[in-house]
Amino acid sequence: MVVTEIFISALVTVLFEKLASGELLNLARRQGIYSHIETWSLTLEKVEAVLGDAEEKQITDKPVNKWLEQLQDLAYDLDDILDELATEALSRKLMQESQISTSKLRRLVPACCTTSNFSPRVVKFDFKMKSKIDSITTRLQDLVKQKNELSLSVHVGGSSLKRTGHERLPTTSLVDESGVYGREEDKRAILDQMSLGAVQHSDRKVRVIAIVGMGGIGKTTLAQQVYNDEKVKSCFDLKAWVCISDVFDEFLITKIIFEALSAESRDFKDLNMAQVKLQEILSNKKFLLVFDDVWNENYGKWDLLSRPFHVGAPGSTIIATTRNVGVASIMRSVPDYHLERLEDEDICSIVAQLALGTHDFEAHPDFKQIGEAIVEKCKGLSLAAKTLGSLLRTKVSPNEWKDILNSKLWDLPKQSNDILPALRLSYHHLPSHLKCLFAYCSIFPKDYEFDKYELVLLWMAEGFLKQSENPKEMEDVGFCYFDELLGRSLFQCSSSRQSRFLMHDLVNDLAQHVAGRICFRLDNKTESNMRHSVFLQKARHSSFVRHEYEVFQRFEAFNRAPNLRTFLPLPVCQTSQGFYLTKQVSSDLLPQLLRLRVLSFSGYSICELPNSIGNLKHLRYLNLSDTRGKELPESVSELYNLQTFALRCCKQLAKLPKNTGNLINLRHLDIAGTSQLKEMPLGIGKLTSLQTLSKIVLDRSRGLRVNELRGLSNLRGALSIIGLHSVMKVQDAVEANLLRKQGLDELEMEWSTGFDGFRNKRTEKEVFDVLKPSTNLRALKVESYGGIEFPSWLGDPSFSSLACMTLRGCKECISLPSLGHLPSLKELRIKGMDGVKNVGAELCGIISPQVKAAFPALTILEFDNMVGLVEWSTNLSNDVENVRQVFPSLASLG
Ligand SMILES: *[C@@H]1O[C@H](CO)[C@@H](O)[C@H](O)[C@H]1NC(C)=O
Ligand SMILES: *[C@@H]1O[C@H](CO)[C@@H](O)[C@H](O)[C@H]1NC(C)=O
Ligand SMILES: *[C@@H]1O[C@H](CO)[C@@H](O)[C@H](O)[C@H]1NC(C)=O
Repeated sequence: MVVTEIFISALVTVLFEKLASGELLNLARRQGIYSHIETWSLTLEKVEAVLGDAEEKQITDKPVNKWLEQLQDLAYDLDDILDELATEALSRKLMQESQISTSKLRRLVPACCTTSNFSPRVVKFDFKMKSKIDSITTRLQDLVKQKNELSLSVHVGGSSLKRTGHERLPTTSLVDESGVYGREEDKRAILDQMSLGAVQHSDRKVRVIAIVGMGGIGKTTLAQQVYNDEKVKSCFDLKAWVCISDVFDEFLITKIIFEALSAESRDFKDLNMAQVKLQEILSNKKFLLVFDDVWNENYGKWDLLSRPFHVGAPGSTIIATTRNVGVASIMRSVPDYHLERLEDEDICSIVAQLALGTHDFEAHPDFKQIGEAIVEKCKGLSLAAKTLGSLLRTKVSPNEWKDILNSKLWDLPKQSNDILPALRLSYHHLPSHLKCLFAYCSIFPKDYEFDKYELVLLWMAEGFLKQSENPKEMEDVGFCYFDELLGRSLFQCSSSRQSRFLMHDLVNDLAQHVAGRICFRLDNKTESNMRHSVFLQKARHSSFVRHEYEVFQRFEAFNRAPNLRTFLPLPVCQTSQGFYLTKQVSSDLLPQLLRLRVLSFSGYSICELPNSIGNLKHLRYLNLSDTRGKELPESVSELYNLQTFALRCCKQLAKLPKNTGNLINLRHLDIAGTSQLKEMPLGIGKLTSLQTLSKIVLDRSRGLRVNELRGLSNLRGALSIIGLHSVMKVQDAVEANLLRKQGLDELEMEWSTGFDGFRNKRTEKEVFDVLKPSTNLRALKVESYGGIEFPSWLGDPSFSSLACMTLRGCKECISLPSLGHLPSLKELRIKGMDGVKNVGAELCGIISPQVKAAFPALTILEFDNMVGLVEWSTNLSNDVENVRQVFPSLASLG
């Protein structure tokens, strides 16, 4: 049995960083545990010195591997304690600050007397902490003793794998071009079988073509090439790509096909109803469906699924890819297409293209011999060629290539789960900071299509992305790492959905393999393997597929996994309307999982959360998007480590916790689509790390003022400012300093729809004037503004990225701003501007010899509900020459 390769350097690096934190050390001094912390640092240093050697040796040396496994476990526990200490330090600091500010207010107690060393909470903390600390110290010392018996040698500068010298950065653009070698014949053969064009009208049966071949040989790539072929595109009325995972559920698949074809989501009661609707769509249409990666061999199921397909027009085709000849024999109507291994020549092209950007090795004599030897190792598998090619791109010298060729990993004995050696190598050569990111992705089920942004937020929450040595924001570091994994062909782009990514099945196997017991998915398989508490004790990250009705028993295993950091339901299919989670999970299970960093109940119809959620001190990521609660427990505002708080589309949510302003580590507060959220707590302005703040609701009476935006200079993406009519002082708007918020690219500005006596036209104009955003803006929406005219910056050509603009319900305005000179404006919507009597030349701006055309990029122009409009005089209607001048790109006029 081959051992799991343990990744740990990155973890240890993080530990060192935490051990050196000033605040932690201060707390430690005060609590009398400083000497422990010191011992930990020193001991870990000894361990780190041999880590490089250990990581190398573990592949063949079982005791070393065991030792690393224990070390890994300890490192996680140590990390948890350090986090607990750091959180305690932070919470004391916050408490002290708030006491200082109250005492300043009251002018009663001097600040120095407010440190609360004597509260019962603190005493309890100390007591529990001391015993945990002692246990860690003992374990650490044990490990050092064991180390001495393993005869590991000290590598100067730590792990040899960490430093690969100058790395050629993988570029992602190359990925798409690869893998297209050597399949022209195959593609032609498939196209022949589809006999495009030459259809017998008597032939009403759907043609099913099965592409059969082993994993990694390139079945999906071939199917993609066929699917995206221009001839094919023009030959079919309807096309859909459906990824069939392990579970062959005919109802689910029918719903997915329906959604893919109709681009709408419906809640079907049963299979029959779904099939009837699907039939309506397919009826007399010539369709092409690709079923990628089919495993099911049950003829009955296939027969049932295929019922609606018979109504299609002649020539309708289904292409299925499968590893299994049995599957093919059930589905097919024409002989299987057996995909053979690629010729070495083609493999060579793939490897050379990815590694060197050339067609072969001829131009690189230094690499030729080694390269060709490596090509042989790929054994005709395109996946192996892609990952190896991508790996070689990061190695610049022939010697480094030689190391890969001569790696021990090629000759490991086969084992049951049979990871491709090429993939193993690719993992082995990942820099250590990428290893844990990659292994973490093993929590995704096979064929799961993940979102880049979400994954980066998860990585961040798990502590994989460091802030310190890098001036870049953690998120940006994460995006780079993501691209690197993509560049190494460990991730790939989804065929069906844009900006989604997935891992090849065999790569997913690899991730699961390297993650070992650290990660597990709560499905039927892991259930049985993971029954043993020993395994569950070690588990840190987990996920599960969200089901419609979740009973408590399903989560039984979590009860025995107290160290879990991740509780993550995944939406594998969005097609159901309701997902129900038993309340027991939040009331009984959650209080056991005190080490959670990532928690999501997203998508479940839950209405309330227990107050005990405030005990999850380590929590960084809380996703309650699309849940039903009206309000949240106040204790949420004690989750001081929280970075991501997602409440998107919580349609009932009316209130945020009063002390949300205490969440000083918050970076993303996603409250888009919360229409009932009409007031916001004071103190949002203290959250200076915020990057995402979907909206801010201003309020005259309770006092959340627009100048709260002052310090939020990291904001990015979209922001809605709601309630601008309540801004009474222009100075507040000046202080909001929108201009400096360079990352904002979508802005919505909303005044009240009531135009009653409280509104002040002059003030509103002045406020709008100074709320000038940065010119990076891409979209702007203005609603119910009450001034008579628009600010002059609106329409200024310096807004060169501005592509979408909506002006709506600004009833007092008597003229439109001049927008014709916005160079990138593509979509313009103007609605309900009652006061505008004529639309004339001023909308376009002056057309001079320098400015040849107004609205050079405009493709969509909508005017709607303009009750006062009497005249349209942009010369649009009567002069063709002018039309071209005024709206050269216009495609649709609504
Ligand atoms: C929250 O969860 C939903 C559903 O899983 C997901 O689509 C969304 O991206 C998550 N939000 C964030 C900020 O990660
Ligand atoms: C898991 O097992 C239960 C019964 O043992 C079964 O009803 C269910 O369909 C299985 N789920 C999956 C995803 O295989
Ligand atoms: C519209 O046409 C009239 C004459 O046909 C011309 O004087 C005027 O300048 C034109 N306006 C614009 C905006 O082109």
